[in-house]
Amino acid sequence: MLRKDSFPSKKPLVANWETLSKVFLQPENEEAKTTLIKYMEQILFGLHEFLKKHVGITEEISLKELAENFTDTHIHRTPQKKLTEVITDLIQNVAPHAVNVASPYFVGHMTSALPFFMVHLKTITAALNQNVVKIETSKVFSILEKQVLAKIHRLIFSFEDSFYKTHVQHTDTALGCFTENGTLANLTAFWASRNHLFPPCNGFDGIGTEGVHAAYQTYSVDRCVILVSRRGHYSIKKAAGVLGIGNNNVIALDVDSNQRIDLEHLRKTIQDILNHQPKTRILAVVGIAGATETGTVDPLMQLAEICRLHRIHFHVDAAWGGPTLMSEKYRHLLDGIQYADSVTIDGHKQFYMPMSCGMVYFKDPHALEDVAYHANYIVRQGSVDLGIRSLSGSREANSVVLSSALDIMGTEGYALLIDHGIETARWFAEEIERRGDFELVSRPELNILLYRLFPAALKIAYDCGNQEEKRRIHHQLNAINQRLQRLQREAGKSFVSRTTLQKGPMEKDEMVVLRVVIMNPMTSPGILSKILDEQELIYREKITGLNQAP
Ligand SMILES: Cc1ncc(COP(=O)(O)O)c(C=O)c1O
Repeated sequence: MLRKDSFPSKKPLVANWETLSKVFLQPENEEAKTTLIKYMEQILFGLHEFLKKHVGITEEISLKELAENFTDTHIHRTPQKKLTEVITDLIQNVAPHAVNVASPYFVGHMTSALPFFMVHLKTITAALNQNVVKIETSKVFSILEKQVLAKIHRLIFSFEDSFYKTHVQHTDTALGCFTENGTLANLTAFWASRNHLFPPCNGFDGIGTEGVHAAYQTYSVDRCVILVSRRGHYSIKKAAGVLGIGNNNVIALDVDSNQRIDLEHLRKTIQDILNHQPKTRILAVVGIAGATETGTVDPLMQLAEICRLHRIHFHVDAAWGGPTLMSEKYRHLLDGIQYADSVTIDGHKQFYMPMSCGMVYFKDPHALEDVAYHANYIVRQGSVDLGIRSLSGSREANSVVLSSALDIMGTEGYALLIDHGIETARWFAEEIERRGDFELVSRPELNILLYRLFPAALKIAYDCGNQEEKRRIHHQLNAINQRLQRLQREAGKSFVSRTTLQKGPMEKDEMVVLRVVIMNPMTSPGILSKILDEQELIYREKITGLNQAP
């Protein structure tokens, strides 16, 4: 149970100008400094104790029980706790019920351990509290952000030196922008592309100013579509919803047997629109570089060529896979990304930054002009105010975290992490194939893979069975894998996630699969073996009964 009020204060705490000035001023003497350092130690090392002990979501206390401890809807009039009490309470009573995403046994999601120094870097941004919306509240930090943007732009597009010399600190151009996350990065890309598709003309002031209805009328358009494979992240639908394009106009194209976009389906869809739907505009084709569920990479080179041929905006969602570009060994997996018009990359994924950091990059340094906003008191014409070309207003100086991390790690350091993830995932795929009771569902291209428990006895029955028998076993396997994932999560020793693919004996069948994301450098083959051993054991001891049921 949560321990409440573990620090009954001896003296009632009061809010007055004396205590307030202590909170706002720098520590006034050595004693106060020592106390603050002690608090930081408490945070860093106290939390480490928690990180050592717990993995994943443990069911020692259920979500329902937890929720019962958080129903106080009043703000107290008087102070309740001192900082030291708050920190201790968080460490002792709250952190143990958080999820230990740093455990090497936590391999279910795209959130993992951080390099230790990230906590220090994040503390610096909080301590300086710069706001990069405008130069007046950030100065060098806005300039530093432009430099980092140019570094990552170069990583993606590799333009000539002269290009970067011109644009790195140009006040009227932008090579990209930081956003809160990948969702807003994707939204920014489609926002720019939408505004570019419906620019001002003959008395029409552009879609941003006049809205979707006026734009469609002016350009004789009924609808806009975004073309992406079925593996597209749901943030693309969100963007279409927000931009007035409509969720239904994100067209989910088929995938091939490797879960990559079916190029024939894409070509046919484009031809059909061009030949028979004169009032439909294609806002963008999206190539995925590291699909959320399968980690697969679409054939970016071919997609780029199709988009070039038809002059369609080519967006690459590399929220996950982007940092693969730092690996000499595996950057070729993203070949074609350099021809994208826009690219999304998340900092809190494979740049190992703390939550949260998204980025979007544009090949054309003028592309963000289509979404530029000005105000009289800030974001003035011709200023370096980053808020001019950014969906967010006030924003932390997250770029300093990325910039410093790049200095500390170098591309070689990051490449070690990327290579480890890819190579460990390949090893894991082989191990799954070596074991008789599992089936590999998607071969890892990057560091994500899907598999399921498929007991050998059922495999034989499945292979020999007729269609009806195959479907029966298919549903049985779904139930087994769903239960297995839940039981393993509840046991709290390790965590893999679960998703559903459209796959099975019949066209519309759904397949429940286990999903593993390998990004923690401490996740070794030995640990992955233990995770499979545990799954075999759970199956034998707790699930085999399901086998018998028709
Ligand atoms: C491919 C892809 N695109 C976009 C996103 C959205 O990113 P975020 O969760 O940072 O908003 C994700 C998140 O997992 C993703 O995997």
